[in-house]
Amino acid sequence: MKTLIVYYSGTGSNKALAEDMAKRMNADIEGLGGGGTIEGMGIAVTAFKSFIGLGSGIGKLKYDPSGYDLVVLVSPVYAMGVPPQMNAYLSRFKGKIKKAAIASVSGSGNNPKAMAKMEKLAGGKAVAVLQLKGLEDKSGPKKGFQKLTAQDLGKPEYGEKIDAFVRAVQKGL
Ligand SMILES: Cc1cc2nc3c(=O)[nH]c(=O)nc-3n(C[C@H](O)[C@H](O)[C@H](O)COP(=O)(O)O)c2cc1C
Repeated sequence: MKTLIVYYSGTGSNKALAEDMAKRMNADIEGLGGGGTIEGMGIAVTAFKSFIGLGSGIGKLKYDPSGYDLVVLVSPVYAMGVPPQMNAYLSRFKGKIKKAAIASVSGSGNNPKAMAKMEKLAGGKAVAVLQLKGLEDKSGPKKGFQKLTAQDLGKPEYGEKIDAFVRAVQKGL
Protein backbone atom coordinates (compact mmCIF):
# COMPACT_ATOMS: atom_id res chain seq x y z
CA MET A 1 0.00 0.00 0.00
CA LYS A 2 1.45 3.33 -1.08
CA THR A 3 0.80 5.94 1.59
CA LEU A 4 1.32 9.69 1.63
CA ILE A 5 1.12 11.74 4.81
CA VAL A 6 0.22 15.39 4.28
CA TYR A 7 0.46 17.68 7.27
CA TYR A 8 0.07 21.26 8.28
CA SER A 9 1.37 22.38 11.65
CA GLY A 10 1.59 25.90 13.04
CA THR A 11 3.46 25.12 16.25
CA GLY A 12 4.91 21.66 15.71
CA SER A 13 2.50 19.15 17.30
CA ASN A 14 0.92 17.88 14.11
CA LYS A 15 4.35 17.82 12.46
CA ALA A 16 5.57 15.53 15.28
CA LEU A 17 2.49 13.31 14.83
CA ALA A 18 2.94 13.19 11.04
CA GLU A 19 6.62 12.24 11.40
CA ASP A 20 5.80 9.53 13.92
CA MET A 21 3.14 8.10 11.59
CA ALA A 22 5.39 8.26 8.54
CA LYS A 23 7.84 5.94 10.32
CA ARG A 24 5.14 3.53 11.47
CA MET A 25 3.47 3.41 8.05
CA ASN A 26 6.61 3.61 5.92
CA ALA A 27 5.02 6.54 4.11
CA ASP A 28 6.15 9.56 2.13
CA ILE A 29 5.56 12.80 3.95
CA GLU A 30 4.62 16.27 2.70
CA GLY A 31 4.53 19.38 4.92
CA LEU A 32 2.39 22.31 3.82
CA GLY A 33 4.01 25.72 4.20
CA GLY A 34 3.86 28.79 2.10
CA GLY A 35 0.90 30.46 3.74
CA GLY A 36 2.99 31.21 6.79
CA THR A 37 2.77 29.84 10.26
CA ILE A 38 0.19 31.30 12.58
CA GLU A 39 2.86 33.83 13.59
CA GLY A 40 3.41 34.80 9.95
CA MET A 41 -0.24 35.23 9.06
CA GLY A 42 -1.48 36.53 12.39
CA ILE A 43 -3.70 34.55 14.69
CA ALA A 44 -6.87 36.56 14.03
CA VAL A 45 -6.53 36.27 10.23
CA THR A 46 -5.73 32.55 10.51
CA ALA A 47 -8.71 31.92 12.77
CA PHE A 48 -11.04 33.89 10.50
CA LYS A 49 -9.86 32.09 7.35
CA SER A 50 -10.23 28.72 9.08
CA PHE A 51 -13.67 29.55 10.37
CA ILE A 52 -15.07 30.46 6.98
CA GLY A 53 -13.04 27.89 5.05
CA LEU A 54 -10.63 30.04 3.04
CA GLY A 55 -7.27 28.91 1.71
CA SER A 56 -3.72 30.27 1.65
CA GLY A 57 -0.43 29.54 -0.11
CA ILE A 58 0.99 26.10 0.57
CA GLY A 59 4.48 26.29 -0.93
CA LYS A 60 6.13 23.92 -3.37
CA LEU A 61 4.90 20.33 -3.22
CA LYS A 62 7.04 17.22 -3.64
CA TYR A 63 4.36 14.58 -4.16
CA ASP A 64 1.21 14.07 -6.22
CA PRO A 65 -1.49 12.53 -3.99
CA SER A 66 -3.25 10.90 -6.96
CA GLY A 67 -0.41 8.35 -7.13
CA TYR A 68 -1.14 7.00 -3.64
CA ASP A 69 -3.58 4.35 -2.35
CA LEU A 70 -4.03 6.29 0.87
CA VAL A 71 -3.48 9.90 1.94
CA VAL A 72 -3.34 10.59 5.67
CA LEU A 73 -4.23 14.22 6.43
CA VAL A 74 -2.69 15.52 9.65
CA SER A 75 -3.77 18.95 10.86
CA PRO A 76 -4.76 21.03 13.88
CA VAL A 77 -8.23 22.52 14.26
CA TYR A 78 -8.41 26.31 14.12
CA ALA A 79 -11.60 28.17 15.06
CA MET A 80 -13.65 24.95 14.78
CA GLY A 81 -12.45 24.67 11.19
CA VAL A 82 -9.71 23.46 8.90
CA PRO A 83 -6.53 25.61 8.66
CA PRO A 84 -6.16 27.61 5.41
CA GLN A 85 -3.17 25.57 4.22
CA MET A 86 -5.10 22.30 4.47
CA ASN A 87 -8.16 23.92 2.89
CA ALA A 88 -6.03 25.09 -0.03
CA TYR A 89 -4.38 21.67 -0.47
CA LEU A 90 -7.69 19.81 -0.46
CA SER A 91 -9.32 22.16 -2.92
CA ARG A 92 -6.31 21.91 -5.25
CA PHE A 93 -6.55 18.09 -5.26
CA LYS A 94 -10.33 17.79 -5.16
CA GLY A 95 -11.36 14.42 -6.60
CA LYS A 96 -7.73 13.22 -6.79
CA ILE A 97 -7.46 11.52 -3.39
CA LYS A 98 -8.41 7.82 -3.61
CA LYS A 99 -8.78 7.17 0.12
CA ALA A 100 -8.20 9.47 3.06
CA ALA A 101 -7.61 9.05 6.77
CA ILE A 102 -7.45 11.96 9.20
CA ALA A 103 -5.36 12.59 12.31
CA SER A 104 -5.36 15.75 14.37
CA VAL A 105 -3.77 17.22 17.48
CA SER A 106 -5.99 20.04 18.71
CA GLY A 107 -6.71 21.96 21.87
CA SER A 108 -9.73 19.91 22.87
CA GLY A 109 -9.04 16.66 20.98
CA ASN A 110 -12.76 16.58 20.27
CA ASN A 111 -13.83 18.38 17.11
CA PRO A 112 -16.27 16.17 15.21
CA LYS A 113 -17.51 19.06 13.04
CA ALA A 114 -14.01 20.04 11.91
CA MET A 115 -13.22 16.37 11.19
CA ALA A 116 -16.40 16.13 9.13
CA LYS A 117 -15.43 19.28 7.18
CA MET A 118 -12.02 17.82 6.40
CA GLU A 119 -13.56 14.49 5.36
CA LYS A 120 -15.91 16.30 3.01
CA LEU A 121 -13.08 18.34 1.49
CA ALA A 122 -11.11 15.11 0.97
CA GLY A 123 -14.00 13.72 -1.04
CA GLY A 124 -15.84 11.30 1.21
CA LYS A 125 -15.70 9.19 4.31
CA ALA A 126 -12.30 8.81 5.95
CA VAL A 127 -11.19 5.21 6.57
CA ALA A 128 -10.15 6.23 10.10
CA VAL A 129 -10.03 9.35 12.25
CA LEU A 130 -7.69 9.96 15.19
CA GLN A 131 -8.02 12.97 17.45
CA LEU A 132 -5.44 13.72 20.12
CA LYS A 133 -5.62 16.44 22.73
CA GLY A 134 -2.56 18.62 23.12
CA LEU A 135 -0.99 19.26 26.50
CA GLU A 136 -0.90 22.80 27.77
CA ASP A 137 2.45 24.46 27.14
CA LYS A 138 3.28 26.04 30.50
CA SER A 139 6.39 27.99 29.55
CA GLY A 140 8.06 29.89 26.74
CA PRO A 141 6.55 32.01 23.97
CA LYS A 142 3.78 29.50 23.21
CA LYS A 143 2.50 29.55 26.80
CA GLY A 144 -1.19 28.65 26.90
CA PHE A 145 -1.16 26.82 23.55
CA GLN A 146 -1.66 23.07 23.46
CA LYS A 147 1.21 21.02 22.16
CA LEU A 148 2.41 17.47 21.77
CA THR A 149 6.09 16.83 21.18
CA ALA A 150 7.84 13.82 19.69
CA GLN A 151 8.78 12.93 23.26
CA ASP A 152 5.10 12.94 24.36
CA LEU A 153 4.14 10.83 21.35
CA GLY A 154 6.81 8.30 22.34
CA LYS A 155 4.81 7.50 25.50
CA PRO A 156 2.73 4.29 25.43
CA GLU A 157 -0.60 6.10 25.95
CA TYR A 158 -0.14 7.93 22.63
CA GLY A 159 1.70 5.10 20.89
CA GLU A 160 -1.25 2.75 21.53
CA LYS A 161 -3.71 5.25 20.03
CA ILE A 162 -1.53 5.78 16.97
CA ASP A 163 -1.08 2.01 16.53
CA ALA A 164 -4.85 1.50 16.75
CA PHE A 165 -5.33 4.20 14.09
CA VAL A 166 -2.78 2.53 11.79
CA ARG A 167 -4.56 -0.85 12.26
CA ALA A 168 -7.95 0.75 11.56
CA VAL A 169 -6.56 2.34 8.40
CA GLN A 170 -5.16 -0.98 7.16
CA LYS A 171 -8.46 -2.74 7.92
CA GLY A 172 -10.47 -0.03 6.16
CA LEU A 173 -8.59 -0.28 2.88
C1 LIG B 1 -6.01 30.45 15.76
C2 LIG B 1 -6.22 29.18 16.57
C3 LIG B 1 -7.48 28.66 16.70
C4 LIG B 1 -7.71 27.45 17.39
N1 LIG B 1 -8.97 26.92 17.46
C5 LIG B 1 -9.16 25.71 18.05
C6 LIG B 1 -10.46 25.09 18.07
O1 LIG B 1 -11.45 25.62 17.55
N2 LIG B 1 -10.59 23.88 18.68
C7 LIG B 1 -9.54 23.24 19.27
O2 LIG B 1 -9.71 22.14 19.80
N3 LIG B 1 -8.28 23.80 19.26
C8 LIG B 1 -8.07 25.01 18.67
N4 LIG B 1 -6.82 25.57 18.64
C9 LIG B 1 -5.70 24.86 19.27
C10 LIG B 1 -4.85 24.08 18.27
O3 LIG B 1 -5.64 23.17 17.52
C11 LIG B 1 -3.77 23.31 19.04
O4 LIG B 1 -2.93 24.24 19.70
C12 LIG B 1 -2.95 22.37 18.18
O5 LIG B 1 -2.28 21.47 19.02
C13 LIG B 1 -1.92 23.10 17.33
O6 LIG B 1 -1.25 22.15 16.52
P1 LIG B 1 0.17 22.49 15.86
O7 LIG B 1 1.17 22.57 16.99
O8 LIG B 1 0.45 21.36 14.94
O9 LIG B 1 0.03 23.79 15.14
C14 LIG B 1 -6.60 26.79 17.99
C15 LIG B 1 -5.31 27.33 17.88
C16 LIG B 1 -5.11 28.52 17.18
C17 LIG B 1 -3.73 29.09 17.06
